[in-house]
Amino acid sequence: MSLIHEIDYGTPASTAEKTVSLTIDGFAVTVPEGTSIMRAAMEAGVQVPKLCAYDMVDAFGSCRLCLVEIEGRAGTPASCTTPVAPGMVVTTQTERLKKLRRNVMELYISDHPLDCLTCAANGNCELQDMAGAVGLREVRYGYDGDNHLGQAKDQSNPYFTFDPSKCIVCSRCVRACEEVQGTFALTIDGRGFASHVAAGMDEPFLDSECVSCGACVQACPTATLMEKSVIEIGQAEHSVVTTCAYCGVGCSFKAEMRGNEVVRMVPWKDGKANHGHSCVKGRFAWGYTNHKDRILKPMLREKTTDPWREVSWDEAIARVASEFRRIQAETGKDAIGVITSSRCTNEETFLVQKLARAVFGNNNTDTCARVCHSPTGYGLSKTFGTSAGTQDFDSVEEADVIMVIGANPTDAHPVFASRMKKRLRQGAKLIVVDPRRTDLVRSPHVEAAYHLPLRPGTNVAILNALAHVVITEDLAKLDFVRERCEIDAFADWAQFIARPENSPEAVAKYSGVPAETIRAAAQLYAKAGEAAIYYGLGVTEHSQGTTTVMAMANLAMATGNIGRRGVGVNPLRGQNNVQGSCDMGSFPHELAGYRHISDAATRGLFEKDWRVTLDPEPGLRIPNMLDAALDGSFKGLYVQGEDIVQSDPDSKHVIAGLEAMECVVVQDLFLNETANYAHVFLPGSTFLEKDGTFTNAERRVGRVRKVMPPKAGLADWEITLAIAKAMGVEMHYSHPSKIMDEIARLTPTFAGVSYEKLEQLGSVQWPCNEKAPEGTPIMHIGGFVRGKGNFLITEYVPTDEKTGPRFPLLLTTGRILSQYNVGAQTRRTENVVWHEEDLLEIHLHDAEQRGVRDGDWVRLESRSGATSLRAHLTDRVAPGVVYTTFHHPNTQANVVTTDYSDWATNCPEYKVTAVQVAPSNGPTEWQKDYEDHARQSRRIVHPRVTAAE
Ligand code: SF4
Ligand code: SF4
Ligand code: SF4
Ligand code: FES
Repeated sequence: MSLIHEIDYGTPASTAEKTVSLTIDGFAVTVPEGTSIMRAAMEAGVQVPKLCAYDMVDAFGSCRLCLVEIEGRAGTPASCTTPVAPGMVVTTQTERLKKLRRNVMELYISDHPLDCLTCAANGNCELQDMAGAVGLREVRYGYDGDNHLGQAKDQSNPYFTFDPSKCIVCSRCVRACEEVQGTFALTIDGRGFASHVAAGMDEPFLDSECVSCGACVQACPTATLMEKSVIEIGQAEHSVVTTCAYCGVGCSFKAEMRGNEVVRMVPWKDGKANHGHSCVKGRFAWGYTNHKDRILKPMLREKTTDPWREVSWDEAIARVASEFRRIQAETGKDAIGVITSSRCTNEETFLVQKLARAVFGNNNTDTCARVCHSPTGYGLSKTFGTSAGTQDFDSVEEADVIMVIGANPTDAHPVFASRMKKRLRQGAKLIVVDPRRTDLVRSPHVEAAYHLPLRPGTNVAILNALAHVVITEDLAKLDFVRERCEIDAFADWAQFIARPENSPEAVAKYSGVPAETIRAAAQLYAKAGEAAIYYGLGVTEHSQGTTTVMAMANLAMATGNIGRRGVGVNPLRGQNNVQGSCDMGSFPHELAGYRHISDAATRGLFEKDWRVTLDPEPGLRIPNMLDAALDGSFKGLYVQGEDIVQSDPDSKHVIAGLEAMECVVVQDLFLNETANYAHVFLPGSTFLEKDGTFTNAERRVGRVRKVMPPKAGLADWEITLAIAKAMGVEMHYSHPSKIMDEIARLTPTFAGVSYEKLEQLGSVQWPCNEKAPEGTPIMHIGGFVRGKGNFLITEYVPTDEKTGPRFPLLLTTGRILSQYNVGAQTRRTENVVWHEEDLLEIHLHDAEQRGVRDGDWVRLESRSGATSLRAHLTDRVAPGVVYTTFHHPNTQANVVTTDYSDWATNCPEYKVTAVQVAPSNGPTEWQKDYEDHARQSRRIVHPRVTAAE
């Protein structure tokens, strides 16, 4: 076993097409114009000593270690800052250069602790390597002069230390924070001998604006910035490339290991979604995998009021099978169903929906994508012909105007946000459509040209108004429309959109966005060379979520912003594999690849392969399963890796549905809230414990690789196979790669995907088939997948959820950087130092009216229920709007959300709830019960709360 070695070329690659030929140490080298001599040498296999250069940031030229000689030029220029030139003759090793380099190293080492043998970086330290590389044998200056050796360590960050006594002030960390991450938390403060790295206002890292992405730690060539896990465990001895299991960016990582223990996660430079960058979650928040709360034994109980009983896998699986078969015999084959997980792999998700269709004999399969991006699938398939985003992430680097709608990538998709901010710093213009003033609106070095702070629930109206400007001001790209779109549909749509009720002036009256801002934003978007839309759950989780997706597609088509780099309509998917769980046929009406279950030809394909007869009728969606449970026709549910009590709307209804069932099977890492209503608990496996694939927001299928055995004995896919077998259907797969082979065999968009290909290419974006054997980074080039692009009428219909005297404020919800979804994983890591509890953001004016001060407990109440949490006074939200996150079960924001949902997909309307906020003395009764029980036992009391409580 060995560490996967990533070469540091010293400076970033040049993207120039023109090439330059030169000679380095006698070797002929040809590289793109603009390449540094250092990089050209490295690419030719010639190592030039270096310390301040690092290929993820621009060259700086401060250490003077990389000096070279160039024929015909005086002096010894730094190879990292000197670009190649045609015919150049470079020498990297001469006596003069050796002497100069040794001199430089002597100076560094004379002010560096001589504790290599006990240093955590020993064996993996560039300073140590360079001392060897330049042949340093003595330090003539001695160690007695002024030095920095006594400086105190900053241990404030939970994941890494900063030991200034080891700092060589190379500035790699500062540049990584600026150029890679875009946070600008670090500076080199002071001058000359006093110059030093300072976080924020020269304060502890934890108190500064540092977001703990770790880019500086990765950049540091010494042990100055160092992961605490490495200090504790030691240097890794092998590594495995895998994919992050948190958000839809899908960053690639090297899991660096000692035996079966993770030493650290290092973003993989060859990862095509992240290019060597990460956020705090993927890089550091993997400790949940070893958390004491993990359940590692299957458990059973007769009634949900009984204590759990640990049992063998055989007993647990036998119980699941016998209960499911009993229920089907007594109540009918449709009385049971499954919920697949967007956190599990494609292969696992595929198996769970196959379990429903091929073993249960019904189509009662749904997924948590129901509650987030189901409108994306439906809306984009009706307009463009595919249920996925149109671009790869790299495309943003060519956008001239970027419109971000209902998304906060800084918190929810941080690595993509860093890329986008880089493009904005290069001069691209930004339009933010969001009720909150997110940090994109204005933060260091980024400022939106326009912020449209719309009233929650008015997305469709705003998009119609933007399109109205495009049509009525003759900004549409008619050539594109004529060539690429259904012209009759366009004509109908243009007539509709030009109506006065869609004008910015009409929409301004109820959306809260001034007409002139809407007009200016529309003009900026339509006149851009390349304009791209990125959107999030602030678009989809509405009663008109699907209509909003269609409205964005209309706008992009009308302005010709589809089918090339720099443009497109791009959902920023929430969970790691939400794209994959949709692709794999998790929805009750669709088989893998979004093909309707009623289509006999598609069904025939699966029936032949699976040797079963499939039900042609769509099955039940999650809300319908819960309704059917309450009317007695649905009694058994297998939930893999999903916590519907906490993540689905109207918790009371979810709980009532679960309580009405006779066999609820929960498969998860922890006893989640849904497990309170379960009869069988099957311990799940983390992404570190299994093989498979995830598909990220750019349709990129990337490998998940097992780095340790499953702690509970079985990987999630093996559990599903065991259930199928116990129910009488053997499915034979020796490895997840065989499941992928089946997916490829049955799904045209995945026809070319295989583990062998993923080994070769690292990852591929679907469609990957005969036409596109290496995948499809950009969709709809030259023509839409459905043939012609389809314009759909997007009438604005206000939500039924209305404010009034009793509930005068609008609640909208979202995420925070350090936490993930319902927090099951991140709450079990050190990330809690950044977010211990969910807070309610309320505008100062609304707070003042209610006598609420910052930090006070407030009661948040809607027609559905009530919860209490602390208030945070801010002007990030407009008056009349309040905002909270949903990461903590003792707050459970979804107690408050309603059961209104998207007209097409049932995606819940999380983003608009009429509420009242009032001062309170602390938690509500159900919250107190929850806390008491959580302390005493693993069984948790559910929130039985009513609005009248
Ligand atoms: S961890 Fe990230 S944000 Fe914090 S200082 Fe380092 S690079 Fe900057
Ligand atoms: S902390 Fe590390 S990267 Fe930053 S200046 Fe010091 S040695 Fe260089
Ligand atoms: S959480 Fe998302 S952005 Fe962060 S490392 Fe994982 S995939 Fe990347
Ligand atoms: S590596 Fe070139 S000057 Fe430091």
